[in-house]
Amino acid sequence: MNRTLSPYSKGSLQLKNHLVMAPMTRSRAIDNLPNALMAEYYTQRNGAGLVITEGTAPSPDGLGYPRIPGIYSAEQIAGWKKTTAGIRAGDSKSFLQLMHTGRIGHPDNLPEGATVVGPSAIRAAGQIYTDRSGMQEFPVPRALTTQEVGQLIDVHVKAARNAIDAGFDGVELHGANGYLIEQFLNPNSNSRTDEYGGSMERRARLAVETAGRIAEAIGAGKLGIRFSPFNTFNDQQPYPESEVHAMYHYLAQEMDKLGLAYLHLAVSPKIPQKTLHVIRQSFHGTIIQCSGLIPETAEAALHGSFADLVAFGKLYLANPDLDKRIAARSALNQPDLKTFYTAGAKGYTDYELLQKTR
Ligand SMILES: Cc1cc2nc3c(=O)[nH]c(=O)nc-3n(C[C@H](O)[C@H](O)[C@H](O)COP(=O)(O)O)c2cc1C
Repeated sequence: MNRTLSPYSKGSLQLKNHLVMAPMTRSRAIDNLPNALMAEYYTQRNGAGLVITEGTAPSPDGLGYPRIPGIYSAEQIAGWKKTTAGIRAGDSKSFLQLMHTGRIGHPDNLPEGATVVGPSAIRAAGQIYTDRSGMQEFPVPRALTTQEVGQLIDVHVKAARNAIDAGFDGVELHGANGYLIEQFLNPNSNSRTDEYGGSMERRARLAVETAGRIAEAIGAGKLGIRFSPFNTFNDQQPYPESEVHAMYHYLAQEMDKLGLAYLHLAVSPKIPQKTLHVIRQSFHGTIIQCSGLIPETAEAALHGSFADLVAFGKLYLANPDLDKRIAARSALNQPDLKTFYTAGAKGYTDYELLQKTR
């Protein structure tokens, strides 16, 4: 048997295989409520040792995109229980990804009374889709006050507790891809002059404090965090390589001190080997590698010195039975980009299973 499909055990993570379903926003959560269709979708993919959900908002002002779920209301907690039961039925583990979209949002996507907020009043270049009025320019976010940053951390802690109540085995903090936490990390979206802006340590403070507080509340073994060093998606403008390197070295050390279950890295060719190396040297928990993997390169990665687990995004989206296809070395369905974020079952729960394609 190859390593991808063999059981994995390190610290608090005991998984039936080394295969992870990457977090993917799918915009099927009508009224921001996790529903039966979503439970079916995740249950179909419970062949993964670890299923990480789509980005889920800890509070109404984190719902930047249309039809994304939340984890702040009793109804949302109840809704997620169907998903966690379906994942558990496959002897698979589930982590909910906590994603606050920050400045990547639009008032038309937010519920009544919520506002687009960010570290600073610096708008992201570009446009975002809204159900109400199509493509819209990103707005200038309202800069959070220092007191509001503190409240936001509390909101994340409450959301993490809610996720555990909903039956998740843990939560993943979204510190990647240009959402709120990364907006704080990057000096081009964070020009604050309080303790959450300025030096590298201060820009990292939201990530470190939020992780620390959640670890205190639910246990560090139930917490992972996702990073994307050198990311430019969502208008995260580059900053000097030595500073990015130092930032992720520091974050890996801090997350190691807290004893987090895992670091989840969106690995791109832009990341210098020395940065990957220093992250691996500094962090002793599990490292999940994601981005651009196919079964062969994932297996090779597991034999290398960086990754403990391998995550698939688009290939998991299109192949609910990816574990079986890897075992059978079978052909893979290709993802249908047109239905990534549309409502309904098409392009969501109707990807063919192996026995049907044979
Ligand atoms: C439809 C779609 C939605 C995504 N949504 C999220 C998300 O909510 N949170 C996140 O961290 N990454 C998200 N991603 C990024 C994926 O987790 C993954 O990093 C990316 O697809 C690269 O991996 P792949 O080459 O295996 O697809 C999304 C990707 C896709 C295709």
